[in-house]
Amino acid sequence: MADEESKDWILMVTAKSPTNIAVIKYWGKRDESLILPINDSISVTLDPDHLCTTTTVAVSPSFRSDRMWLNGKEISLAGGRYQNCLREIRSRASCFEDEKKGISIRKEDWENLHLHIASYNNFPTAAGLASSAAGFACLVFALGNLMCVKEDLGAISAIARQGSGSACRSLYGGFVKWNTGYDVSGRDSIAMQLASESHWDDLVIIIAVVSSRQKETSSTAGMRESVETSTLLQYRFKEVVPKRILQMEEAIRNKDFTTFARLTCADSNQFHAVCLDTCPPIFYMNDTSHRIINYMEKWNQLEGTPQVAYTFDAGPNAVLIARNRKTAEALLQRLLFYFPPPGAELTSYVLGDVSILHDAGLQEMKDVEALMPPPELKCQIPFKRHAGDVSYFICTKPGRGPMILNDKNQALLNPNTGIPQ
Ligand code: ADE
Repeated sequence: MADEESKDWILMVTAKSPTNIAVIKYWGKRDESLILPINDSISVTLDPDHLCTTTTVAVSPSFRSDRMWLNGKEISLAGGRYQNCLREIRSRASCFEDEKKGISIRKEDWENLHLHIASYNNFPTAAGLASSAAGFACLVFALGNLMCVKEDLGAISAIARQGSGSACRSLYGGFVKWNTGYDVSGRDSIAMQLASESHWDDLVIIIAVVSSRQKETSSTAGMRESVETSTLLQYRFKEVVPKRILQMEEAIRNKDFTTFARLTCADSNQFHAVCLDTCPPIFYMNDTSHRIINYMEKWNQLEGTPQVAYTFDAGPNAVLIARNRKTAEALLQRLLFYFPPPGAELTSYVLGDVSILHDAGLQEMKDVEALMPPPELKCQIPFKRHAGDVSYFICTKPGRGPMILNDKNQALLNPNTGIPQ
């Protein structure tokens, strides 16, 4: 390790990672501590320009213990999930040498050096927007870089998986599959990229944040209860998912939106049916979620071919995937018609890629107020609008995987103290 004179050095890495939304859902573990799933799953990585976790990891001989700050508040690293990730990454660390700064870390030194970690999510934590997926992917990616881990992304994804199952899918951009794997060690339960984000770049994604409150049943508890009590889950993972995985892979390969949308909606609905089939039943969606499903189904029905796919994770927020940019404009018009902003502000109501808002001719509140009911509502007059039922929308698209941020100004830890700045 570095000698006495250079005891005060701090080595730091900052990374940014995306979140992801499963279109073939992961629900149920076959091993709780290694986080091994009962079925394969497929996801779309969301553009980290709009939804991401930023994490800075630092190491210094002056640090007295491993510490972590999440969204500015210090949290305990005592939980098994953090400990598992730290242990697995440390065991794969290599030596580090920076002659100019006088830093030399041998492979075996990493076990005794403490870490400081600061992480920030630019979206609500634990509200069904996969914050722990982005969080653990970012943590493991940043630590792997700091500790000069030489393994490939697949092996890194298996470590992220031990923090949060779906985190393994956030190690790649675009379209990603998490293989269940066969090995009891979990080493083949890894993520792989099916196609990059540029393969199918017509897709536009709009998230309706229905509630940013933390959910009542955690995914971990919900999954365990479903595995123990749901007969539908048994049928799903044996009979349904294996076929859907093959069909979804083909739909993504061929950019076949009709099949993609049909499978995405059906799988989301089956996942929530499994939740209802759990004893006691679990309700992740609420009235607004159900309303959104109805509106999207009506629109797709009217068009004859699906224009939009919907999917809901373990929370009430809707993730809507539009066929292309033009469709996304029509989608946003519908969403703002049904769920107008509660106040007079549009800029804090539609976030992310707001150019869709402009292209849809909805720059100002008066444009939203003037929206006509969509044609599929014709036979439902008088129609209802639901101001206040959606907190905000985020417009985004399929995006890239994790990246290292070389700009020192983006670090979340003070380079002199190793404490959040
Ligand atoms: N859980 C939720 N957000 C997280 C983050 N950014 N890092 C680690 N765990 C998390």
